Amino acid sequence: MARIRFENVEKKYANGFHAVKDLNLEIRDKEFLVLLGPSGCGKSTTLNMIAGLEEVSDGSLLFDDELVNYMPPHKRDVAMVFQSYALYPHKSVYDNIAFGLQMRRAPREETDRRVRDAARKLEIEHLLDRRPSQLSGGQRQRVALGRAMVREPAVFLMDEPLSNLDAALRISMRAEIKELHQEMQTTFVYVTHDQAEALTLADRIVVMRDGVVQQIGSPGDIYERPRNTFVASFLGNPPINYIEGQIKVTDDQMVRFVQGELELNFPAETAAKLADCDGLTVLLGIRAEDVEEGSHGGAGAVLTGKVNSVLPVGSDLFLGFELFGNELFFRVGKDIGHASGDEVSLTVDLNRLHVFDKDSGASLIW
Ligand SMILES: Nc1ncnc2c1ncn2[C@@H]1O[C@H](COP(=O)(O)OP(=O)(O)O)[C@@H](O)[C@H]1O
Ligand SMILES: [Mg+2]
Repeated sequence: MARIRFENVEKKYANGFHAVKDLNLEIRDKEFLVLLGPSGCGKSTTLNMIAGLEEVSDGSLLFDDELVNYMPPHKRDVAMVFQSYALYPHKSVYDNIAFGLQMRRAPREETDRRVRDAARKLEIEHLLDRRPSQLSGGQRQRVALGRAMVREPAVFLMDEPLSNLDAALRISMRAEIKELHQEMQTTFVYVTHDQAEALTLADRIVVMRDGVVQQIGSPGDIYERPRNTFVASFLGNPPINYIEGQIKVTDDQMVRFVQGELELNFPAETAAKLADCDGLTVLLGIRAEDVEEGSHGGAGAVLTGKVNSVLPVGSDLFLGFELFGNELFFRVGKDIGHASGDEVSLTVDLNRLHVFDKDSGASLIW
């Protein structure tokens, strides 16, 4: 059992840098939690506090209900996997995996059983006699995983473990890490700056920026209902489009987005949340994949504009689109029969629009 709780946790480094600010977070037992955000936002700092590698400056860090602020790393029952693998170059794969157990003077048969068990799960049994220098990047990362697995920790910490691997391997290792989590039935805390990795792996994602949590939720939640423009922009490929304009509430309580000639009527549910925003300057957010080619009816609004660029990306197409002077980027089916310069109509589902306050960036429809 391993539940981890941050209560008003602060981290200030010795040089005064404030890396984590008022962190409140409960990581559930057996959960796969991903810390996501750009480089420097405080992900590793947060992970290192759980590991005990960095001290908590203020607030409380609890494992289950025990305060661990001052507990040394080796007493915490956590294992960590780093981006750099951190293997011992002169030891064999076997000894690299066994090292932690040997240090703890675990019985030899027990150590042997666990090492072989982990090696089998990771499909590196045939490599046990090699040295790290004789392995590929992916194989080295498996050894690092094996070393953490044999300790059977209550908490598995991973700091960008796949960043040094090439794209194809990264995707297959994602699936393996997910399987590993299911098999091990322990709490995983995983750090990455890669949105796709976070969306595939996580039960819940914590999005961070400049040491401050922006949003906590399931991948679906974070993607579909971003709390602010930072979260909305960090997830999505190509990124979400914004159009700056005003909210207009009419006499008969219709709520509209207006930018020059562009006018869109919000559906009832969205309109209700914007009823007292008349005159407010907002950013209308349209996710790249939330349009369809052609003029469809229903809950959609038709946007007619000009194709600026057509970029095939294999399975589908990135379409540069100019709408009343706004440069937008959409993702559409590859069979769209248009070239640069063509006029084209796209239908946007009004129920999928996002509306943010221009000044604060906060979602107005959350
Ligand atoms: N030992 C340290 N002393 C001072 N500042 C640090 C130290 N370690 C990290 N930082 C700073 O704290 C911020 C967060 O770092 P980190 O947690 O490593 O970010 P991330 O893992 O999200 O890229 C960065 O601005 C980094 O430069
Ligand atoms: Mg980091």
